[in-house]
Amino acid sequence: MPYSAEACWQQLAVVQAHRDRGELCPYFFDGPGGAQMPQSVLAAMSEYWQGGNANLGAPYASSERVGQIVEQGRVSAAALLNAPPAQIIFDQNMSSLAFKLSRAISQRWRRGDQIIVTQLDHFANVSSWQRAAQDRGVDVITVGLDKQGWQLDYAKLEALLSPKVKLLAVSGASNVCGSIVNLARVAEMANAAGAMLAIDAVHLLPHQLMDVQALDCAVVFGSAYKFCGPHLGFAYLAEPWLSELEAYRVSAATNLGPGRFETGTQSFAAIAGMSAAIDYLAQWGERDAGLRARLVDSYAQFSAHEQGLSERFIRWLQARPQWQLYGLPLADSALRTPTFALSHPQYSPYQLAKQLGEQGVYCGAGHFYAPALLEQWGLAPQPGVLRLGFMHYTLAQQVDELCRLLDGCIA
Ligand SMILES: Cc1ncc(COP(=O)(O)O)c(C=O)c1O
Repeated sequence: MPYSAEACWQQLAVVQAHRDRGELCPYFFDGPGGAQMPQSVLAAMSEYWQGGNANLGAPYASSERVGQIVEQGRVSAAALLNAPPAQIIFDQNMSSLAFKLSRAISQRWRRGDQIIVTQLDHFANVSSWQRAAQDRGVDVITVGLDKQGWQLDYAKLEALLSPKVKLLAVSGASNVCGSIVNLARVAEMANAAGAMLAIDAVHLLPHQLMDVQALDCAVVFGSAYKFCGPHLGFAYLAEPWLSELEAYRVSAATNLGPGRFETGTQSFAAIAGMSAAIDYLAQWGERDAGLRARLVDSYAQFSAHEQGLSERFIRWLQARPQWQLYGLPLADSALRTPTFALSHPQYSPYQLAKQLGEQGVYCGAGHFYAPALLEQWGLAPQPGVLRLGFMHYTLAQQVDELCRLLDGCIA
């Protein structure tokens, strides 16, 4: 069966539950806040519990199964990044991992060193590094946006990078305005200066795969609930850091491989669910191909659909100049995710989101933990923006209905 957004929509647990109850399902435009889960993910998670709760390393069948779930989890997450599975670390969520790894990485920094964070980023990839820098007496430089205000100022970034800079923390894509960062260009600059590169791919991964073999970076963060999985964070950590960093760990626990950074017992059900979510994403690839190749195929189809949705929505916006779009225009729809930050002169983002929510159209309002970006636009701490995020399962007619309701909100 070929990919269609409708086929994906029908696989979602929330859609099936509404259908079974004979109720209308809301439309979900808050993908960047958390995507919906396919029924197969729920099934994988309950299968874990039904198979018997266990921990790693015991000589009985359900414990051996836990070992297999974790190993499969590393293989599945690695396929999103084209990374070696043995370099995938799990934790509760991305933010916890960012604080954990920044603490370990910063042990190598010295007073007078510098690190660079960006104005585009979610603050999970800013505060974590700022806090570690504060502990180590290291200076934090923030790189801003270009003149339009939707992209990093690459020229400024290049000028700021020097041998003093130990780390550059950057987003793969903005979770507020959807701008995709030119990671190849950023990696080249960071490597030329000898700075470690830490990429927050949380908003990028639901829309685009990464290839850490082509991109020289030290760390990549992901978060499974943004791509139809459960709440679970993961990170790729390159060598030699994976083996050589001093991990904050229980001394009796393993000091080998990714387990060095995995404090305590992991959520095995969530890891099983994440693998099922990645299988769901890969289902539109050539059946006999490997997981990575199937993902590449599926994502190409998602991208074409999502770009079509973006263009449809931006065209609607263009005919309504009272709406301000904070983000890349129609001509650059390939350089963005289908995530839109909007404001209207007469209505607050919160009022608009509330009105839409009451009509079964779900979206968020606020700063979305990217306060520096909103400050740059003059919208923080208040009023923030209305954020609309589409996914590969969003139907074109749902976008049309959203537009109709937005017209109604301000009528
Ligand atoms: C771009 C981005 N980075 C990081 C995070 C934090 O992820 P987590 O909720 O897994 O800590 C989010 C969450 O919204 C995000 O959108």
